[in-house]
Amino acid sequence: MAVIAQKCPEIKVTVVDINKERITDWNDDDLDKLPVYEPGLKEVVEEARGRNLFFSTEVDKAIDEAEMVFISVNTPTKNYGLGKGMAADLKYVELCARNIAKVAKTNKIVVEKSTLPVRTAESIKTILDAEGKGIQFKVLSNPEFLAEGTAINDLHNADRVLIGGDQDEDGLKAIQCLVDVYAHWLPKDCIITTNVWSSELSKLTANAFLAQRVSSINALSALCEETGADVDEIANAIGADRRIGSKFLKSSVGFGGSCFQKDILNLVYIAHSYGLEEVADYWEQVVKLNDYQKRRFSEKIIKALFNTVNGKKIAMLGWAFKKDTNDTRESAAIYVADYLLSEQAELVVYDPKVKAEQIYADLDYLNTRSEEENRQLVTVKNDPYEAMHGAHGIALLTEWEEFVMYDWDKVYNSMKKPAFVFDGRNILDKELIADLGFRIYSIGKC
Ligand code: UDX
Repeated sequence: MAVIAQKCPEIKVTVVDINKERITDWNDDDLDKLPVYEPGLKEVVEEARGRNLFFSTEVDKAIDEAEMVFISVNTPTKNYGLGKGMAADLKYVELCARNIAKVAKTNKIVVEKSTLPVRTAESIKTILDAEGKGIQFKVLSNPEFLAEGTAINDLHNADRVLIGGDQDEDGLKAIQCLVDVYAHWLPKDCIITTNVWSSELSKLTANAFLAQRVSSINALSALCEETGADVDEIANAIGADRRIGSKFLKSSVGFGGSCFQKDILNLVYIAHSYGLEEVADYWEQVVKLNDYQKRRFSEKIIKALFNTVNGKKIAMLGWAFKKDTNDTRESAAIYVADYLLSEQAELVVYDPKVKAEQIYADLDYLNTRSEEENRQLVTVKNDPYEAMHGAHGIALLTEWEEFVMYDWDKVYNSMKKPAFVFDGRNILDKELIADLGFRIYSIGKC
């Protein structure tokens, strides 16, 4: 929304949230205190805030004044009842729709921005029409494809924007209104318009395809470790084929983030619900392979450390699910840590952007052990050298660029011997690190 405000100075954009603390942070004079860390975001907020971008807790007032309302609430995987562990929980979306219907006094275009299962627009429309006292609502689907860490660039230079709406006269008019917003800064031919269902399903499909590529290369990484092939060389060789392309072929300890797993499980749930078992099984395998990769990495560590990590100190570099973000949702680091803790390792974590409270909260959420035990077994450091001092092994979980720049000789001298490095992102120069005396394990390499 901040980018829409930046690029469309004549449009007033009000971002509302019932969480007062978050809104206070969004309004903080100190732009380093914005609640989301995202390169380039503070500059966008600085430019538009107070001009035509506002952050407020006055939800009803903002709905009342708006011609277009974007629903951008969380749609987590359900953790209860029917569809538990698979389906998207649409509670917050429904609450928004009911609130819009209650407050609106004039016709509105309601835009689904949250990632939603196919045919959700229909439910939103039903609620709006039933509660909306004869007001006309048009529902559009406008899924977001930005990736964290590169969000601002992804928005400024989007490959495409997707807008789904009814194909009747009023629907097409509503679509055009939103097309006009994006056309302020994007070429018209990258704004794709479709029917609502195609738009909703495209978002799940895009994430499923991207995640599938990561799982495919990760599956090969296991085979590389057995055969002597090098997974990065394979990625390079196949990626040069323009039909395949080079993106999303970086083998890793496993994908994380708020979208991939959630969206695939949602897709799997939808396929099951239509009785399409083979389709469901096909996509579920992408998530299973990802779980396997995280487990496999953890087992490598244990095996290398002479089959036990009990009482051993392992330094974990990185907790975020990828570099340039403080987001830890579904981060592979959480699951590797949990696995190693179950083997009674002592963990010392360092991440340049993730705070200790978040790390403990992520582990507590798993409910594998008590909160006291998590705090006893896991220490969080603000200094990477302190984190690695005296460690038996180092597990590198996030591809932060600073990790490559460390004085690895100094690190080696401060560690227990033999000193192990497990590079879950293949960012370190394997030969260089080995020459310093380390025993290094990389993904998909012998
Ligand atoms: C993703 C989609 O890319 C984006 O279009 C959508 O809107 C939201 O979900 P995001 O989760 O922010 O974005 O990150 P992304 O860059 O896609 O990475 C997801 C995960 O896959 C990360 O854990 C990343 O480290 C991992 N990954 C990605 C790999 O392991 N290898 C790769 O080659 C690419």
